[in-house]
Amino acid sequence: MGKERILIIGAAGQIGSELTLALRSHYGSENVFATDIKMAPDDVVSGGPFQILDVMNDKMLIHFIIRHRITQVYHLAAVLSGNAEKLPIQAWNINMEGLMNVLEISKMVDRLKKVFWPSSIAVFGPTTPKKDTPQLTVMEPTTVYGITKLAGERWCEYYHRKYGVDTRSVRYPGLISYKTEAGGGTTDYAVEIYYDAVQDGQYECYLNQDTILPFMFMPEAIEATIQLMQAPRNKLSVHSSYNISGFSYSPNDFYNSIKSNIQEFDIEYKPDFRQEIADSWPDSIDDSVARNDWGFRSNIDLEQITERMLKNVRMKLKL
Ligand code: SER
Repeated sequence: MGKERILIIGAAGQIGSELTLALRSHYGSENVFATDIKMAPDDVVSGGPFQILDVMNDKMLIHFIIRHRITQVYHLAAVLSGNAEKLPIQAWNINMEGLMNVLEISKMVDRLKKVFWPSSIAVFGPTTPKKDTPQLTVMEPTTVYGITKLAGERWCEYYHRKYGVDTRSVRYPGLISYKTEAGGGTTDYAVEIYYDAVQDGQYECYLNQDTILPFMFMPEAIEATIQLMQAPRNKLSVHSSYNISGFSYSPNDFYNSIKSNIQEFDIEYKPDFRQEIADSWPDSIDDSVARNDWGFRSNIDLEQITERMLKNVRMKLKL
């Protein structure tokens, strides 16, 4: 394998701000080019190349990819589920145009070999089997975000089949992280709850207490992403997107887990429009195809996550 030169689009976001650091330690800081339309956290900006870049501008994008001899792109920039419901057409344009620009350029530029693009459990809908949702199943998403992710999956698969672009993707569940908050998603509560528990000792949750959704802890999601990108191409049977998942919990489970560490922690449930989105998504995911094809594994449980979240959120907030 020649020297990899990696472009990250969306390096200031929840996934990008952590993936950038992990990729720099794998491939060397000088080979990982972090970009976003907004400023990224200090360690992303100071730890290697960082530049403001808009994926919607295809001329700037192709110029950047050629000038820096990019061999792999991680295209992470997207409008998440809750925000997309507020601005459906804008969300469709941003989520689709960005991906189409990346795919078109990867078709044209020989050196650019691999594209990672994140899909989501949002590709599933109310008619999908809710428990142990299989890799191949009914997919009728009812959210704009889910529609963009399903369309994106089909385009990734199309560019792979038709033009030989090595597209790789996972359907992330809700991601729990302490470095950068998500913003505008339906699973964001599982991050907010830790911040509010530490800062205020109380949390107002926008989902019902018993709404079960699949989640993963960010370090495991980052590891899985790099593992998929490094897997031999002939092992991969899926070029749309792989089901992956860690565990399934409800707001009440998070509450109890935090309460066993912070006795005075209190929660109030006030479901908003995101309840309907959450209700349309699976409770749990069957990720056996990812396990068989490229060895995906998740090991961490909620108790360990709560311990690490509380410790790191306190450190971040200097409490
Ligand atoms: N976490 C995302 C959201 O809630 C789903 O991919 O929008």
